[in-house]
Amino acid sequence: MIKTYFNGKAAIWDRVAAEKDQSKLQQMVARLDIRPGSVVLDVGTGTGVFLPLLIQSLGSDGKIVAIDIAEEMLQRARMKGFNGAVAFLNADAAHIPLPEASVDSVVCYSSFPHFQDKPRALMEIYRVVRSGGRLFICHTSCREAINGLHNGIPEVTHDVIPEEDEMRWLLSAAGFVEIEIEDNHENYLCRASKQG
Ligand SMILES: C[S@@+](CC[C@H](N)C(=O)[O-])C[C@H]1O[C@@H](n2cnc3c(N)ncnc32)[C@H](O)[C@@H]1O
Repeated sequence: MIKTYFNGKAAIWDRVAAEKDQSKLQQMVARLDIRPGSVVLDVGTGTGVFLPLLIQSLGSDGKIVAIDIAEEMLQRARMKGFNGAVAFLNADAAHIPLPEASVDSVVCYSSFPHFQDKPRALMEIYRVVRSGGRLFICHTSCREAINGLHNGIPEVTHDVIPEEDEMRWLLSAAGFVEIEIEDNHENYLCRASKQG
């Protein structure tokens, strides 16, 4: 089970698995159109690797809700403090404990392949984002590299970024529009909007 796998990795995640190249993280967050003062939902926050970048983009008036299915990953993120800028929730992307239209944008950094019920997770993300709000599914490597990495790990071997056609279909089925997918040698970035 994915939750057990990530709970088992929590203690070593930052040292062994997390993206350490801050310039890659900075470049990615700069492309997400995060508005200062807005509310962002970080789905699959893990140990909170992307949170400092989101906090920087949001400024002091912004708010982040960070969710993760693995409570031990989330506990590592909580321990980092973040001065109350982040509300942490131990929850599954397929059942997000937030009201309808309660966030301005949603970020899935390095987490989407692991959602076991992707259609349901996208429906939930669509429900909680406001009209005109954005979803960003992103990785600091290309799709082929991410899928290749996962293929080599038995516990996550089936956790892949879908092919472009399938991704577009999944997002459209959930209601998203303005779907853009960029996949190059350095990054994967999928943007979509909830109709305004
Ligand atoms: C590869 S880690 C990435 C964590 C963090 N974003 C980072 O870049 O270091 C994927 C995270 O997604 C979480 N996750 C997997 N499936 C999830 C789900 N259905 N709902 C919420 N979180 C999930 C895992 O527990 C894990 O912490």
